[in-house]
Amino acid sequence: MRTHQCACLCEADIGQDVALAGWMNSRRDHGGVIFIDLRDSSGIVQIVINPDQSESFSRAEQARNEFVLRVTGQVRLRPDGTENPGLSTGTIEVVADQLTILTRTEHLPFQIDDEDVNETLRLKHRYLDLRRTRMQRNLRLRHSLVRTIRHFLEARDFTEIETPMLTRSTPEGARDYLVPSRVHTGAFYAMPQSPQMFKQILVISGFERYYQIARCFRDEDLRADRQPEFTQLDLEMAFVEEADIMQLMEALFKLAFSELGDIKLPDTFPVLSYREAMKRYGTDRPDLRIALELVDLTDAMKDEEFQVFRRAANRKDGRVAALRVPDGAALTRQKIDAYTEFVGNYGAKGLAYIKVNSTAAGREGLQSPIVKFLSDAAIDSIIQLSNCQPGDIVFFGADAASTVNASLGALRNQLGADLGLVEEGWQPVWVVDFPLVEYDQESNRWQALHHPFTAPKEDALDEIQSDPGSVLSRAYDLVLNGVEIGGGSIRNHRLDVQRQIFRMLGLSEDSIDEKFGFLLTALSCGAPPHGGIAFGIDRIAALLAGESSIRDVIAFPKTQRAYCPLTDAPNAIATEQLNELELRVKTTASIMNAPVSENP
Ligand code: AMO
Ligand code: AMP
Repeated sequence: MRTHQCACLCEADIGQDVALAGWMNSRRDHGGVIFIDLRDSSGIVQIVINPDQSESFSRAEQARNEFVLRVTGQVRLRPDGTENPGLSTGTIEVVADQLTILTRTEHLPFQIDDEDVNETLRLKHRYLDLRRTRMQRNLRLRHSLVRTIRHFLEARDFTEIETPMLTRSTPEGARDYLVPSRVHTGAFYAMPQSPQMFKQILVISGFERYYQIARCFRDEDLRADRQPEFTQLDLEMAFVEEADIMQLMEALFKLAFSELGDIKLPDTFPVLSYREAMKRYGTDRPDLRIALELVDLTDAMKDEEFQVFRRAANRKDGRVAALRVPDGAALTRQKIDAYTEFVGNYGAKGLAYIKVNSTAAGREGLQSPIVKFLSDAAIDSIIQLSNCQPGDIVFFGADAASTVNASLGALRNQLGADLGLVEEGWQPVWVVDFPLVEYDQESNRWQALHHPFTAPKEDALDEIQSDPGSVLSRAYDLVLNGVEIGGGSIRNHRLDVQRQIFRMLGLSEDSIDEKFGFLLTALSCGAPPHGGIAFGIDRIAALLAGESSIRDVIAFPKTQRAYCPLTDAPNAIATEQLNELELRVKTTASIMNAPVSENP
């Protein structure tokens, strides 16, 4: 059907007879001559159709964008002055001797080069959307990422092993997607939230280095970086400690980023403790490209008159913190009001601030609705601790530490973006020394911060029962430019420790055996010390592609409402199918799809 791909032609082919096939990207009629940009997966080449080829010429006249064409002709140099430097084939063209229409396009819901198409419509007609250069590039980049990962791991003796999709619930903190069993009426499989337990069992089975490009399923609130099904690079190793995994992964990412994006990551990635990350950035996934940092004022405000600060400073879980923004005094009242509303979304009850005119004149040099409530000592502490300079603004958060961290952490990112304070480049950081568990007020019990298979620090075994909140874990997360791209840990290979953790998490002996009996039995059969990690392939691909949503690096993603506009899933199912499963639906399925504004 063809001798060449469009964009593989070059000046060396001049004079050659070629056959090409592809989609009509565009057509221009120029006083008797027709120019067609023909596109295939390699790119675009210009076809020239002269009126003396009368049949081909009249077909070219009928052709519309996205018609599928075959062209035979001869490659020639473009006449002087008609080169197109924007195309890799811009110095040549193919003069057609024959043009045939292979497929007529009936209807185009949108033009391929229209940048401004509603996303639901793009997803509904994904086959058109994926024809765009940007999407072609993104999916190829993703493919290359996975290929690089495979090469890297295979050279290091990892074995790729598939694990079941129909399985039992794995606790990764989200809701499960369930699949009813026909054979075992009334029973359900869960789709894996991750291959966590299987990979541990594989290591116990003697596969000392396992990996998988694994699909995971989580029914959780969706965001730009979360999909209900997503892909992990999942891996596990026997006889390792934290540093082994972290170093190996650094090597992998340095290679992948240099190969795929010509990006040089630092030789060794910095490491931050969870505590320090929360203290300085208010989050465990700090974007280190932004130089702003929170400063703690809790101790300094304990005896202050100003109620807002004093109350927060004296509550057990309270925090008072400042965020200094260099040159921020120029922010208008309106902007500050908008930021106050912004932090409100994170639970903050207000956003106190001080504009700094001078630091030498005490309160006289400051401009703020709160200075009148603050003592001289407090003002001195603020100036000193925040290290503020004339022209700065200092924002304050005072509340439960979780609220202050969430709100000032988010404000830090927002200010970074708004004020152009996000440095160019790539800033990876490991976050380590996470607490093993956190207390969940709603369910009134301890919950694993990562998952319950994470090992506690060895010196903290005694505290698992007596003071769970103080126990640190052997977990590590990798954060890149403020995105959590991966996380893992050293696991509990000791049966007694694993049991103790389940108990601390409030599970009864019966429910431990019912839910995790198979894993515990495996652990009792000679488990090597082991650990692993999993990375979000979608998130890494999005970072490399410069996309803000992982939907743009997934071929067939779902909307924010976990709906697939292409196939119209999920959908109601036929009564016969329900009967077979002995299921009865309480509510008729509502239409899940967001309105699709589409031309007929
Ligand atoms: P975790 O739950 O941290 O760890 O997941 C690992 C990584 O997967 C990515 N990720 C997601 N990406 C897109 N959409 C989602 N809904 C989503 N959820 C998570 C993130 C995250 O860092 N079993 C453990 C790993 C281990 O301990 O080895 C696990 O799944 O980039
Ligand atoms: P108020 O006394 O409530 O009028 O608040 C005085 C100033 O403190 C205002 O600028 C509020 O935005 C700010 N403020 C109130 N509550 C908090 C809080 N929890 N954290 C930070 N600032 C606050």
